[in-house]
Amino acid sequence: MPHYRRFADASVSEKILDTMFLITIGLGYLFALGHTFFSHEGRDGKPGLSVEDVKIAYYGQHQQTRLGAGLNGGMDANLETPEQKQVIIDWIDAGSTEESFNENVAPILNSNCIGCHSVESGMGLPPLTSYNDVMKLARADTGASIQSLVRVSHIHLFGIAFILFFVGRIFILCEMPVMIKRVTVAVPFLAILVDILSWYITKYIPGFAFVVVMAGGLMGISLTIQILVSLYQMWFYKPIVEPVEM
Ligand code: HEC
Repeated sequence: MPHYRRFADASVSEKILDTMFLITIGLGYLFALGHTFFSHEGRDGKPGLSVEDVKIAYYGQHQQTRLGAGLNGGMDANLETPEQKQVIIDWIDAGSTEESFNENVAPILNSNCIGCHSVESGMGLPPLTSYNDVMKLARADTGASIQSLVRVSHIHLFGIAFILFFVGRIFILCEMPVMIKRVTVAVPFLAILVDILSWYITKYIPGFAFVVVMAGGLMGISLTIQILVSLYQMWFYKPIVEPVEM
């Protein structure tokens, strides 16, 4: 039987180094959770982080535009009839073409809105005087762009691979049934791969947001278990079997 290293074979200096590393990574992970909370929290208009917030972050709110939100939020009071609001909403839903804008929407805006929403009004409000200006407020929120997902993916994969590798290297010095150990070192890697893949799927299929949350949670749980079990075994656990015969 080959001899594999265990914590019993590690010097105190090595254990101090491992401990400092694990504590620093653990703290870093807590801050990463805090960052996730603050960057997605409340997207759905309710305080706190929910699967709905994650859905909006990746998929967006396809029905929601600044123009639609403005009309729903009280600007429709400036219109003459509720039908005019419907004309504008229908135009957004139908893909907001320039032709239909000039024909149906511009006359409504010109008679009800540009008194305030124009450069001339001097009120500093977003102008509604031309198709291009209105389009700035009429684009639907389609969530994170592929470009930004690619950027965040490569940073995450490189960074997290290093973290999981070094934490895993320390964790394999623990004493435990081999199958548990083999599964525990593999799980966080699989979880982060599924997590990142599901960002892209969620961008197109919003129902996938729960996979993002579950995979992220699974990675966090397995990382936490590895850190805590390693710290415990390193300092407090006395192997029953002599380590020489493992
Ligand atoms: C009497 C002046 C006035 C008129 C007329 C008016 N608005 Fe506004 N509008 C405002 C002000 C002031 C704000 C910013 C404060 C707020 O949101 O209530 C605003 C904000 C908005 C916003 C939000 C802009 C953003 O930054 O997201 C939209 C959209 C909007 N208005 C659309 C309209 C439309 C469409 C009409 C015509 C039906 C209209 N407004 C008519 C004064 C006006």
